[in-house]
Amino acid sequence: MMHDDVEKILYTKETLENRIAALGRQITADYAGKAPLCIGVLKGSFVFMADLIRAIDLDCSVEFMAVSSYGDGTTTTGAVNITKDVGVSIEGRDVIIIEDILDSGVTLSYLMGYLSAMKPASLAICTLLDKPARRKADVKPDYCGFECPDEFIVGYGLDYAQRYRNLPYIGILKRSVYSA
Ligand code: IMP
Ligand code: MG
Repeated sequence: MMHDDVEKILYTKETLENRIAALGRQITADYAGKAPLCIGVLKGSFVFMADLIRAIDLDCSVEFMAVSSYGDGTTTTGAVNITKDVGVSIEGRDVIIIEDILDSGVTLSYLMGYLSAMKPASLAICTLLDKPARRKADVKPDYCGFECPDEFIVGYGLDYAQRYRNLPYIGILKRSVYSA
């Protein structure tokens, strides 16, 4: 069973709910009177995004982008490739990029450059998790759920080889699963 592959639970369902409610309140206050455009980075962010937007009490809209950089391994390859573009004009919009995890920062620093060239009114990053230990690109999140340890983690949208996204909590994946 997938639960047996988890070494340790880092954030329970309840911990996630509470933290995401607080993030939603913070974004609601910071963007009062605005109609932000939330752009989720597929696939990892979709579970977080679904909960976060319902915690934002504003007239917001939702779009998705998809990038590939990871393959099925546990460390980044460095190259970022847009496989699905935003599809709408973001000029003059207050854009919030929604990510599951900020690791090396390569993905988000590329996306920040790409999206800022489209002249949004503002551009912010909201990531559920920040793993600062592995940072290569100079990126700081505007909103962050948790600073997490330098471990490979899964659940609540985060995968290893496309598995474990449906775990309702976030946990550290047993090393034996990927170093077998
Ligand atoms: P970065 O470009 O290195 O910051 O990588 C960001 C992407 O790598 C995230 O959006 C995740 O999809 C993936 N990633 C990084 N660390 C982890 C992890 O611990 N578990 C699952 N996915 C991860
Ligand atoms: Mg991702």
